Amino acid sequence: MQFSPVIAGTMSWGQWGSAFSTDQYSRIIHECVDAGVTTFDHADIYGHYTTEEDFGRALAAEPGLRKQMQLITKCGICMVTPNRPEHLIKSYDTSKRHIIRSLERSLQNLHTDHIDLLLIHRPDPLMDPSEIMDAVDELKNAGKILLFGVSNFLPRHMELLRSVIKLEANQFEISAFKTDALYDGTTDYCLQHHIPCLAWSPIGGGLLTKPDQPEFVRRVMGVAEIIATAHETTADNILLAWLGSHPTKIIPVLGTTKIERIIAAKEAMAIQLTREEWHMILRAQRGKEVD
Ligand SMILES: NC(=O)c1ccc[n+]([C@@H]2O[C@H](COP(=O)([O-])OP(=O)(O)OC[C@H]3O[C@@H](n4cnc5c(N)ncnc54)[C@H](OP(=O)(O)O)[C@@H]3O)[C@@H](O)[C@H]2O)c1
Repeated sequence: MQFSPVIAGTMSWGQWGSAFSTDQYSRIIHECVDAGVTTFDHADIYGHYTTEEDFGRALAAEPGLRKQMQLITKCGICMVTPNRPEHLIKSYDTSKRHIIRSLERSLQNLHTDHIDLLLIHRPDPLMDPSEIMDAVDELKNAGKILLFGVSNFLPRHMELLRSVIKLEANQFEISAFKTDALYDGTTDYCLQHHIPCLAWSPIGGGLLTKPDQPEFVRRVMGVAEIIATAHETTADNILLAWLGSHPTKIIPVLGTTKIERIIAAKEAMAIQLTREEWHMILRAQRGKEVD
């Protein structure tokens, strides 16, 4: 599977944000696909378990549209909501039964016969690799998922699962404002084992639109503005180019609800920062030079 250079994140498209109508879903899906942003990121839980279904209505209305895109979804978090009255507390479930049941629901909601990439949403202290392997084997053999990966997994969690299953992606939080994954071994591990890296909150998850921006955000944006002038682009694009310029070629999962920002982001991924430019951003985020 080829991911598009930017992945459209749908977390804020439904009840947890813009509450798009079916027509609005159709419009933004078409605009994304026309712009070459063909990969869409979902999770079973988005919109309290409603966003996949809302998005899926747009796919059902137009047979043929599904073939032009790749769909990612996630499972494993059990949220307390009236839509899942059986959940008494927020918990994780990575049992074979839950993974298969959740995936079957995603297929139904999204009106598709397969998911391109299924992710386990969070590392579960009760996860049993052999049980997950059984679920993944069954789903892959049935053609219901093409690829399998994880989200928010540290190297030790990836090591545990990799003992029995091939990991084909890790989606974790990383941006010019949040660089922990560079230091906790996540990006190193992914590079070593050829696991594609997908970044959630790649532009800070709403930090840029906050009225009172913390000092480090102002520092990073100040530096991004300077680098942007040299590349004849915007500071926001430099934040995204910073991800793509890492050796793992981190792919942003962008959460905007605005098509012009998605199109701009795709253009940003063609920008390669120099090593010095990349370190200027890192220095601004950390507030100090590398040792
Ligand atoms: N795996 C996980 O655990 C996990 C966790 C969280 C999110 N995710 C995924 O990651 C996606 C993105 O997460 P996110 O929404 O937190 O992160 P984000 O893309 O970093 O932030 C999006 C927010 O930034 C605003 N924004 C300001 N300037 C922007 C620009 N130039 N380009 C894009 N957005 C800009 C957007 O406002 P406008 O809408 O007004 O443009 C929106 O409020 C989600 O949709 C979801 O698919 C995964």
